[in-house]
Formats: sequence, C-alpha cells, structure tokens
Amino acid sequence: MSSPALRPTLALAALTLALTALPTTAPAQAPAGQKSLYDRLGGAYPIAVVVDEFINRLLVNEVINANPAIAAARTRVPAAGLKFHVSTLVCQVTGGPCTYTGRTMKQSHAHLNITEREWQEMLRVFRAVLAKFTVPEAEQRELIAIVESTKADIVARGS
Ligand code: HEM
Repeated sequence: MSSPALRPTLALAALTLALTALPTTAPAQAPAGQKSLYDRLGGAYPIAVVVDEFINRLLVNEVINANPAIAAARTRVPAAGLKFHVSTLVCQVTGGPCTYTGRTMKQSHAHLNITEREWQEMLRVFRAVLAKFTVPEAEQRELIAIVESTKADIVARGS
C-alpha cells in the first residue's frame, strides 16, 4: 500500500491536468470545502515574491547560463515580463483568479535545448527558494509536482 504522503490528492491531479493542457483550460478548482493551493499559499503577493526570487537566482546561475541558448534568451527577454508570465501561470494552475496569456511550455522552451542537468539545477534552486520563504511541506510538494508535470514539455529529448 502506498503511503498517504505519496498518494496524489484529487486537487493535485486537477492542477496537473490544468497545467498540462495550458493555455486552453479553465483554472484548477479545489474540491468543495477545501482551500485552493493558491489560497493556502497566501494569494498573488506571496506567489509573486517567490517567483521574483526564483527567477533572480536562475538569471545568475552558472549551470543554467552555461547553456548558450538560455544565456542569449536572458539578454533578450525582459526579466519583469518573464516574472509576470510565470506568476500568472502559477496563479492560474493553483486555482487563483488569473488567466495565463503566455505561450505553452513546449512553445516557450523548445529553442532552449534544456538538459536534464539544467532541469535538476532549476529544481534545486526552486526548493531552496521555497525553503527560504518557509512554504509549508505539503504546499512545497504540490508546487514541485506541478513543476515536474511540465518536464516532458521543457527538457529536450535525449539530453
Ligand atoms: C531548467 C528549467 C527552465 C529554464 C532554464 C527556463 C528558461 C526560460 C527562458 C529562458 C524563457 C524565455 C524564452 C524566450 O522567450 O525565448 C522561459 C519562458 C517561460 N518559462 Fe521557463 N524555464 C524553465 C522551466 C520552466 C518551468 C518549470 C515553468 C513553469 C512551471 C516555466 C515557465 C515559463 C513561462 C510561463 C515562460 C514565458 C512564456 C512566454 O513568454 O509566453 N519555465 N523560460
């Protein structure tokens, strides 16, 4: 029998589904009587603060910037716009009142040739940022599961 901690909740399954099908689906709904992940995280401001720190750290990360396609995008794409899109996306897929208007994960990352190593580095940084802002364990797990659900669309095949 699997442990309760490893068993995905209905809410998480709904979130993952919403994210995978972006950008055409409606926001994920929390089951009746249960607070959405968006509300449990504290809403738009805490989400934007986490995204801000996360992207700031990635922009100066040596492992990530060793990839020339990512380094080139870094000088071309305004960080403020990237933070806006990522915050809106997180708001939407956690059940918040936002509508993500950016491209799909496949469309926005295909040209970057992101490797498994770069993906693992991004996850390490993400965990460190969640810990810095003392996001509770359960919410950390749900956020990481959401990020993991995008991996097949973001990491280049065979990397
Ligand atoms: C190693 C992992 C990742 C790296 C290196 C990375 C890097 C980037 C870069 C450089 C861009 C700008 C691309 C361009 O416009 O040319 C971008 C766009 C974006 N990324 Fe990521 N990304 C990663 C993972 C993720 C994840 C896990 C998510 C969300 C769960 C995400 C969400 C977005 C969004 C929403 C955009 C903007 C899409 C748009 O402009 O329409 N990224 N990413």
